[in-house]
Amino acid sequence: MATKTKPENESKKEEVPEEQVIMMEEQIEPELTIEDLPGVGPATAEKLREAGFEELLAVAVMSAQDLADQAELGEAVANKIIQSAKKMANIGGFVSGTALLERRREVLKLSSQVQSIDDLLAGGFETQALVEVYGEFGSGKTQIGHQLAVNCTMPIDQGGLDGDVIYIDTEDTFRPERIIQMSRGHGLDPDAVLERIHVARAYNSAHQMLLAEEIKRMSRGINVGMIIVDSLTSHFRAEFVGRGMLASRQQKLNRHLKDLKQLADVNNALVLVTNQVQSKPDAMWGDPTKPIGGHVLAHASTFRLYLRKAKGGRRIARLVDSPNLPDGECIYQVCEEGLRD
Ligand code: GTP
Ligand code: MG
Repeated sequence: MATKTKPENESKKEEVPEEQVIMMEEQIEPELTIEDLPGVGPATAEKLREAGFEELLAVAVMSAQDLADQAELGEAVANKIIQSAKKMANIGGFVSGTALLERRREVLKLSSQVQSIDDLLAGGFETQALVEVYGEFGSGKTQIGHQLAVNCTMPIDQGGLDGDVIYIDTEDTFRPERIIQMSRGHGLDPDAVLERIHVARAYNSAHQMLLAEEIKRMSRGINVGMIIVDSLTSHFRAEFVGRGMLASRQQKLNRHLKDLKQLADVNNALVLVTNQVQSKPDAMWGDPTKPIGGHVLAHASTFRLYLRKAKGGRRIARLVDSPNLPDGECIYQVCEEGLRD
């Protein structure tokens, strides 16, 4: 996690309202742990921890069936634990605008190292955000993933996040050779960069979801700057076919996206997911360039970038649905050394 330096001038704090001071003090109280839950002995605590449930809140928000599955507990036991956790967890819920602003201050921006793209995004790709990159095959989604993975390892004062990268590869398109080329393009040591990119191949959607859960555990020891899922939707699309499967597909995708967003928040990291468009130009109705995933994905992503190819090997990226930036477009190129203006 990036350490941010606090301003020296503490005297500005005198305006903090009283109720907020009380809230701050409450947060300093020793936090309850899962061992404090009635009925949770050392063995159960161990199971919960192994499944990645460190905090009461993480337990409180689970369904009995999911917790039972993930922590290998009986469903009745899981249910009891959840009910206790709900009572004891600091559910939080409402925070002041000031606290939110403070959290926003921790947000870092990962530079694409391409001026036109950074300008479009007012400086770069924000952490604590989930960015969806969508476009047709060959539009350059995987190239963006590779480039940002390289950039993420760069120092913060050079537009990087000085962070490691976790790359979930569902289509077997991660290429270390490409990382080497792009690292050289920025004068970085390719071996050092490769060392900081942790790649897992996901064989199906269930495996993909498990890998995202695994990140909770493995991210404890490392400073995760970025998580990439390339492609987010390919397995889901191949496995859940037809109208009848749509609801369960969207449900699973939703759960997966929530896990990913949580990882972005907890690690102050950027989550980048790629997605194909429904390239069916013969479709009678509906936009043939609509991303797969529907509303679930549209609502989960903080930013969406729509990529397309243009003449002369150029690429166009369009910013769609950003909460605080105007929609717009930029042009760049994919070269041997990586993305360039
Ligand atoms: P799908 O995963 O199939 O949906 O496509 P995608 O959007 O991920 O496309 P990808 O990022 O794989 O883009 C592939 C394109 O990037 C190629 O058609 C090339 O134009 C370009 N590209 C990839 N590698 C290189 C390279 O080493 N040099 C150059 N100049 N271009 C490259
Ligand atoms: Mg790809």
